[in-house]
Amino acid sequence: MGQGSGKGKTILFGEHFVVYGLPALAAGIAAETMAKVGKIDQVGWTLDDHRPAMPGYKAKKLDEQKVSIDNVLRYCNVNLSKTGIHIELGGDLVCASGIGASAASCVALARALSDEFSLGLNNSQINAAAFEGEKGYHGTPSGIDNTASTFGGLVWYIRNLEGGPPTFEKLKLKKLAHLVIASTGITASTIEVVGDVRAKKDENPEWFDEIAREYENLVHSGRDALLQLDFSKVGKLMNRNHELLQELTVSCKELDALTKVARENGALGSKMTGTGRGGNMISLAPDEATRDSIAKALEQAGAAGVWTTSFGL
Ligand code: MEV
Repeated sequence: MGQGSGKGKTILFGEHFVVYGLPALAAGIAAETMAKVGKIDQVGWTLDDHRPAMPGYKAKKLDEQKVSIDNVLRYCNVNLSKTGIHIELGGDLVCASGIGASAASCVALARALSDEFSLGLNNSQINAAAFEGEKGYHGTPSGIDNTASTFGGLVWYIRNLEGGPPTFEKLKLKKLAHLVIASTGITASTIEVVGDVRAKKDENPEWFDEIAREYENLVHSGRDALLQLDFSKVGKLMNRNHELLQELTVSCKELDALTKVARENGALGSKMTGTGRGGNMISLAPDEATRDSIAKALEQAGAAGVWTTSFGL
């Protein structure tokens, strides 16, 4: 039996903009997906998906998941025409849009295949296998989710628009930053939302470029502020990043309502994270006690799931 795991992530700055080659910052979180792979007496693959999930998430993603698993198998050169495999997915990462669940499952599967078939894949190869898997879910993924999931920690990421390897750097903070993640419970389709933003950008490039120019300055300031541990500035920049995402039309009233609740309850900043139009939002807290009270307020406000985490070391 081969085993492997992949971490969840949140995007602190840069969802959607990262698709067009602008820098983004993602933070790996402790929760992860586990995959187990064992040989069976039939050809092809079978799947038991025991991952905890938001209602409706797995059904909505099932067709994409099948393409994704085939893509990972193809990258890993695993031929199931004589002996098949059974795949089991589990772990403590709750599948919801915006938490990197698809990337985490691709990374976990690639690691489990490497273990079961003694492929000896290193992290770069695991990341590349997961990137192929992500194409099943995203169509044209930027690669930030699989990179954050493979390597964990705080990741500065720039997609290579020519198709070559991305630029990425692991950043370390001198002090932990505290985060609350909350779910709207709405499962978004990344392919659809990314496709819609692209269509809007193609229709009105000046509109997109103006927003993107402001974002680019913002993400560099966000990186500097994080490294200087100026969390109140980071929070303000997160708030502005959320407004830019509203202008891109990828937020929604549920995300806007949760960010408002978090800000009213002590968050330094709050924004949607990931695809948007549902999915998750994140809030930066000044300390653990405030983080816990923001989490409570979000629960009381009807968030479908609330998690606390820390990142940076
Ligand atoms: C999804 O987690 C992040 C997006 O920017 C898509 C991508 O980067 O591939 C919306």
